[in-house]
Amino acid sequence: MTGIEEFIAGVPKCELHLHIEGTLEPELKFELAARNGLTLPYADAAAMRAAYEFHDLPSFLRVYYEGMAVLLTEQDFYDLAWAYLSKAQAQHVRYAELFFDPQAHTSRGVSFDTVIRGLRRAVLDARRLLDVRAQLIMCFLRDFSAEYAMATLLESLPYKEWIVGVGLDSDEHGNPPVKFAAVFERARAEGYLLTMHCDVDQENSTEHIRQCLEVIDVDRIDHGVNSLDDPALHTEIARRGLGLTVCPISNGYVRGDLGHEAIRRMLDLGMRVTVNSDDPAYFNGYVTENLLALSEAITISPQDVLQLERNAFEVAWLPNSLKDAYLAELAAYEQAR
Ligand code: HPA
Ligand code: ZN
Repeated sequence: MTGIEEFIAGVPKCELHLHIEGTLEPELKFELAARNGLTLPYADAAAMRAAYEFHDLPSFLRVYYEGMAVLLTEQDFYDLAWAYLSKAQAQHVRYAELFFDPQAHTSRGVSFDTVIRGLRRAVLDARRLLDVRAQLIMCFLRDFSAEYAMATLLESLPYKEWIVGVGLDSDEHGNPPVKFAAVFERARAEGYLLTMHCDVDQENSTEHIRQCLEVIDVDRIDHGVNSLDDPALHTEIARRGLGLTVCPISNGYVRGDLGHEAIRRMLDLGMRVTVNSDDPAYFNGYVTENLLALSEAITISPQDVLQLERNAFEVAWLPNSLKDAYLAELAAYEQAR
């Protein structure tokens, strides 16, 4: 390993953009399918992986939703999250915020209660057995109606203590942030923190980012790379100190490059850009691989890597005392090198 590869491998990490359903590896799909008496249309995990082919957001989302059919019981959701959190521990992820998509399950007859109980149990076990901390962020699917999102929000309220915030994902085309203004206003009133996907190079990307800032008043933006296209947007994001959760390998699939130049620029502009993995089972890279891909595309120094992780811990949805503890771990890592 080169110096920077070793530095990346060992650095304490914070993952802020990770769809837990996007961590469902083909091997686990086969295991869950067998347990649930389902047959998958591939000979084995390798054949399934070979059939993954996407070039934009909709083509990825089709495969992503299809894959979820094997998730049926509370134990399935536990196993999914436990597999990810074990992987996270191996990559020195100290803290992770996990998106989950309840409507991708309730819409096919799996109850909200089943989903969240399985995920919650894995989060508790990871804290106890792996020394990895995690919190859940509930995402609404933006290609479903605002009414369905509101109903899902109301359904989540009995489990409010288990969910730190809400997000918005799925197909952005024709589904702007303002479509969900009332849902996010209610979510805020219920005490949830707010984030939304502004995927790269979408139609009306900059207008969607503007709505996130001016209408929704988000606490963070997922991706948000196109904020660089408009000085008014990136200046405002920097002024507010908002975090941007960028996912290089995912960007590579959706737009053709990793967005590495954008990450360099954001670092230089003092924006709180972070590097994350999005859907690692589909894009073939967890957070370490994303940092490595970045370091292959552009020259990044150990100081840049530290800055990316510092940004992530600073914008994490944690109390200051915990952020400080993680930032101290980062400082100790730097000292020890
Ligand atoms: N964008 C939008 N929706 C998603 C994504 C993404 O990157 N991953 C899973 N759902
Ligand atoms: Zn995402």
